[in-house]
Amino acid sequence: MRSWKMALSMTILMIPLYLLAFTSLNIEVAQANSGDNHESAEHKALESSPDHEILEPRVPADKLAEAKALKNTVAVNAKTLSEAKEIFMGKGTCYTCHGEKGKGDGEIAESMNPPPRDFTYTPWQKVRTDGEIFWAITNGTRGGESGMVPFGDMLSDEERWLLVNYIRELGKVNGLTSNSK
Ligand code: HEC
Repeated sequence: MRSWKMALSMTILMIPLYLLAFTSLNIEVAQANSGDNHESAEHKALESSPDHEILEPRVPADKLAEAKALKNTVAVNAKTLSEAKEIFMGKGTCYTCHGEKGKGDGEIAESMNPPPRDFTYTPWQKVRTDGEIFWAITNGTRGGESGMVPFGDMLSDEERWLLVNYIRELGKVNGLTSNSK
């Protein structure tokens, strides 16, 4: 009789332990399920990879056609390229962010997010038209929210087209053609 009572009270005492074990099992299952969410987050991260982000147009969608249609008015030759270099390294101050060779590694580049464009990055060169580059120099990017500020008031149309040609020239270092300077 006594041992029967003992067995009963032991069983009652064990109930909280069973509950505890069951709860922790549930937590494990929940954690396993959240693994799926983690995977889809990784997928999203891939879609917004830095490369994808760099190639996205900087001209707003409603102005893109207009920007692409802009015609470069400046001829490319040794004289115009050296004039352009002077602006890039001088009053344009472009080199401070984009670097002397346009690799996006200027002296104040490190503190910038997004980073200054690397003009030697061939996929970027291929995807941009002269007109879009001109537009970005004129109006800056991200509505003034990035380090790429507008130069439309500081540099003339001609000076900005000179720079477009110079940026193209800097992009040729990766063996496409040699720089004339
Ligand atoms: C204070 C730093 C700074 C200076 C000075 C600067 N840039 Fe930039 N530039 C940036 C940054 C940052 C970006 C990247 C902006 C972005 O990703 O939206 C950029 C992007 C660009 C782009 C790429 C736009 C595109 O469509 O992808 C061009 C072209 C450009 N700059 C040209 C110039 C020229 C030419 C000058 C000189 C007249 C100049 N920048 C001066 C910081 C600078």
